[in-house]
Amino acid sequence: MTDVSRHLVSINDLDATEIVKLLDVGDSYWPAITSTGDEAPKKLTSLRGRTVINLFFENSTRTRTSFELAAKRLGADAINISGSASSTAKGETLADTARNLDSMRADAIVVRHSFGGAAEVIAKSVRASVINAGDGQHEHPTQALLDAATIRRHKGRIEGLDVVIVGDLAHSRVARSNILCLAKLGARIRLCAPRTLVPRGIEEIGGELTRERVRIVHRLEDGLDGADVVMMLRVQSERFEGEACRFPNTRELSRTFGLSERTLAYAKPDAIVMHPGPMNRGVEISPQVADGARAVILQQVSWGVAIRMAVLERAILVDVKAE
Ligand code: NCD
Repeated sequence: MTDVSRHLVSINDLDATEIVKLLDVGDSYWPAITSTGDEAPKKLTSLRGRTVINLFFENSTRTRTSFELAAKRLGADAINISGSASSTAKGETLADTARNLDSMRADAIVVRHSFGGAAEVIAKSVRASVINAGDGQHEHPTQALLDAATIRRHKGRIEGLDVVIVGDLAHSRVARSNILCLAKLGARIRLCAPRTLVPRGIEEIGGELTRERVRIVHRLEDGLDGADVVMMLRVQSERFEGEACRFPNTRELSRTFGLSERTLAYAKPDAIVMHPGPMNRGVEISPQVADGARAVILQQVSWGVAIRMAVLERAILVDVKAE
């Protein structure tokens, strides 16, 4: 059997050309996901007869729904399994659960798990293509791709832009995938958080490439200064268990690192504001900014469907699978 699977476990599975290709395919699906009624293009069928299994061991609203919609928009069958309802809750290993799903001829398995490395374990155990929908604090590659698509749509390019990522960098798989993706596409990246929320060596996760492109700052004003894109992160308190306290309290964090109309004024006048969701209004972002004219947060969600259509096609439509 030749290995024809096209897993997407990390942004490092893609080079810049492949990323741009996925963004271009995503662009071509934008009308299909944003127009309704008579305007809507005819139903697409490229994945007809294929099966996508969403295996989610952590909560999700956007990611799971958009993978399901993406699969259905392309004519595939989509099945959702939540972790608490699966046999891993009865002691089955993750790899065994995945092998069982694989035996039902899944073409793609989309997985979210609190263990960083879960997607890779599954990718090594199954014939289906595996897509990482977020593994612990490791990566969330499709979020980075949909973020890149949103930026490109608004700014016309990614190369040469100043993108600041603000907030809980310590626990954020979104930040890690975005650092890798944005660096590959030629952006300059600023990471902005209190020292206790910046993991040691984060600027080196992509080796030389990210070392050259990432700068760490500890004052919000310095992070925002002249930025083209402001990306805010939620404090992932569910991942804090057993850790020493990283900041005095939420109010203090919000006062020093929260995005408000006042602090947003440090960014470029045409800067866009992004957030992967779920937002904690009044903590990392004020309601005025979240609902303001510069926020593109709900557009990110729409791009999620278009980009995941492109990612599913890449995963599934490979050369004829050898038996
Ligand atoms: C993020 C995640 O789950 O990593 N959300 C998402 O996928 N849109 C970020 C978060 O939970 O804060």
